[in-house]
Amino acid sequence: MIRLEGISTALGGRDILRGLDLTIRRNETYVLLGPSGAGKSVLLKHIVGLIRPDEGRITIDDEDITHRRGAELGSVRRSIGYVFQSGALINWLTVAENIALPMREHTDQSDDAIETKVQKLLDLVHLSKDGEKFPDEISGGMKKRVGIARALALDPPIVLFDEPTAGLDPIRARAIARVVGNMRESLEVTSLIVTHNLGIAFEIADRIGFLENGRITEEGTPEEVSASKNPFVVEFLADRAAGKRTE
Ligand SMILES: Nc1ncnc2c1ncn2[C@@H]1O[C@H](COP(=O)(O)OP(=O)(O)O)[C@@H](O)[C@H]1O
Ligand SMILES: [Mg+2]
Repeated sequence: MIRLEGISTALGGRDILRGLDLTIRRNETYVLLGPSGAGKSVLLKHIVGLIRPDEGRITIDDEDITHRRGAELGSVRRSIGYVFQSGALINWLTVAENIALPMREHTDQSDDAIETKVQKLLDLVHLSKDGEKFPDEISGGMKKRVGIARALALDPPIVLFDEPTAGLDPIRARAIARVVGNMRESLEVTSLIVTHNLGIAFEIADRIGFLENGRITEEGTPEEVSASKNPFVVEFLADRAAGKRTE
């Protein structure tokens, strides 16, 4: 369980988060929506200790990580898979080597065990036959899927996705959504997904939350938020029907 309580954070002299409360339950798939610049990426960074709040408390499975730094965060970071927007792959390593890297760095598994695990992860992200390719030989959507596979390599109980489908065409975005959907069914994972893709949000979310003016102003199941009378939510979702938010 991830819990943020009364989080206030100013960056560059501006208040970004303003007394934000958010609880993500164990094994829940929580989708965070909100306008560009609202602080969604900043919120994710709090959970892995890349940004510390000015006020408030962050707990992961009842462990208070609010004031931890550097090495003190090691075990927390290993329990969290972070899927970066860019993919952030190492170009001189193959796809399979990129996925194996966290296992080589953080575990003492045998080469055989690592190879088996890599193949399992490649299957999960529908890249079964692409392990020997290099990052510059595959498409942007494939790179993102490799990023997901790598984030899952250590079987983290928590996975954070920062706009996993941004900049992809609808077909590739669907492929990513399928991977996230499969993950939800086949693994015991708590996931927090930032996306602008409302179609995907409504398909995979257990709950959806809206970040606006530094707080979660609306939260609920897809059905509940669809029925919301909150003008901000109504407007945000109206764009969905108009197809304006397909990023
Ligand atoms: N390290 C930083 N220093 C100063 N300002 C930052 C920093 N990181 C983010 N910001 C600002 O915080 C606001 C929220 O950013 P971000 O979380 O990236 O928005 P988004 O919701 O689009 O992900 C933006 O105005 C951004 O410029
Ligand atoms: Mg962002």
